[in-house]
Amino acid sequence: MPTRRDVLKSLVSAPLVLTPFGSRTANAQRETALPDLRRQQQFAHRLPRPPLASPAPGTRHYDIAVRQFRGRLGLVDPRTGRALETTLWGYEGKYPGPTFDVRRGEPVTVRWANALAADGQALSHLLPVDRSVHIAHAKAGAPIVTHLHGGHVEPESDGDPEAWFTPGFAERGPAFAKEVYQYDNDQEAGTLWYHDHALGLTRLNVGAGLAGFYLIRDDGEDRLGLPSGAQEIPLLIQDRTFTASGELVVVSHPEQPGAPQPSIQPEEFGTAILVNGMLWPYEAVEPRRYRLRFLNGSDSRFYALAFEPRLPFVLIGADGGFLERPAVLDSLLLSPGERADVIVDFSRANARGRTVALLNSAPTPFPTGDPPDPRTTGRIMAFRVGARTVHDESRVPDTLRSEPLPDLRPTAPIRELALFEGKDEFGRVKTLLGTVRDGAKNWHDPLTEDPLLGAVEAWDLYNATEDAHPIHVHLVQFRVIGHRRFAGDLDEKGALKQVRWLADDRPPGADERGPKDTVRVPPKTRTRIVARFDRPGRYVWHCHILSHEDHEMMRPYVVRRA
Ligand code: C2O
Ligand code: CU
Ligand code: CU
Repeated sequence: MPTRRDVLKSLVSAPLVLTPFGSRTANAQRETALPDLRRQQQFAHRLPRPPLASPAPGTRHYDIAVRQFRGRLGLVDPRTGRALETTLWGYEGKYPGPTFDVRRGEPVTVRWANALAADGQALSHLLPVDRSVHIAHAKAGAPIVTHLHGGHVEPESDGDPEAWFTPGFAERGPAFAKEVYQYDNDQEAGTLWYHDHALGLTRLNVGAGLAGFYLIRDDGEDRLGLPSGAQEIPLLIQDRTFTASGELVVVSHPEQPGAPQPSIQPEEFGTAILVNGMLWPYEAVEPRRYRLRFLNGSDSRFYALAFEPRLPFVLIGADGGFLERPAVLDSLLLSPGERADVIVDFSRANARGRTVALLNSAPTPFPTGDPPDPRTTGRIMAFRVGARTVHDESRVPDTLRSEPLPDLRPTAPIRELALFEGKDEFGRVKTLLGTVRDGAKNWHDPLTEDPLLGAVEAWDLYNATEDAHPIHVHLVQFRVIGHRRFAGDLDEKGALKQVRWLADDRPPGADERGPKDTVRVPPKTRTRIVARFDRPGRYVWHCHILSHEDHEMMRPYVVRRA
């Protein structure tokens, strides 16, 4: 097996699409990053709650426009103490975007508009665009398209990476199907989220601020009596890097002879932590139970979260719904794209009247990279717990699901799929998906995943790389069946030969025993998932490390009619 950063040389004829994007970008990329983040205040700004999205009066229709705006993320100029402002993109000019709070069985429609324009002129990209990958390319203005992550959504409304559009829908990508998206909400209660998905630009558009929560509720959830209202807090965790004047910056790939600049990074790790768009915030809580809905919306950073002093995470839900019963965890691992629905009891003796910090210990890249800096990226936020006893009527029942988890028995042969890391024609790391038999594939290579409508399929994901990758499948909530370590040989196309098992099958972790749409596939491990593919049409599956997805660890798949 090749080692990390090893080459699957001339794996595929790497496509070269030179995009004539101007070198003009809205912010000053040449400024140096904030020199010392330790001089930024931590736990000093209150955690923001994203506002609720509201439908047009008397309807279930939402109009949401993406705008550029200036926002305060809690950064201050260390010399003057003055608050710094940051240029951002946001749904409804908000970062995070407004939270959808919808009910199962009540469909909604959303017209996602692109209002990235000023004085009638389309704005250019906020962050520098790579010139050498498959990319949404418009003559004027920034392409965007919104995807509802975790949603059981028709293909025309799924936010296909090639269904992008520019302001006024003036230019549209080849997969563009409609202006008004339809979300059926015909799925159980869960913590979904929406974010941008434009081809080759996802990391930049999400990086600029395009992400928000989409919560589905149902009667089963209502009956549980979980903490709610002020005691239910969505937490979007993202890492970001800033310039000295407070503007966003993405790090360009180190210069490679002949490679176009600016250029994509194999990963993007921010130097500062934001929760709900606030730098290292704090939240004032009462000594009682809270429901925290965690979402890792970062580009590449995994989080291994723990409270200090120690408090257990009582995990009640995975990405797309409730677990059978609560699982008590000391720490919580979240890869990009994953969500965790958690109850935390701040009335415990070691928390009452104290400040409880939420810390992170996940290395970058995960799992064998560098540890986070304990003074910066090792910290997430704090909870200031009140001392005065309050009455808490919330419960955490032993049985959480009112319906059993679906029994998914495969009705088709297992699909053997693989995750690769190679190099592109400029010698830059390039991540790819493909099949075990035929090797690595680019985005535009012929379709290989084509489940039959209604089929239950097991997908075996063989990770031939040295890093963990969060693999996300659109449309479905799948079950995680298990993980098994392997060794094998890669031929020059990336086909995997001579697979040898190094261990027994490891059953899914306690945090994987519910409806999942994003799964961590550890290095040199085969992870098996199983799902029912019950809507016809084209969707995608991809790594949710956004820099991988853009470069181009993403493949289309089609649910075909018989
Ligand atoms: Cu959260 Cu295809 O994405
Ligand atoms: Cu998705
Ligand atoms: Cu990846």
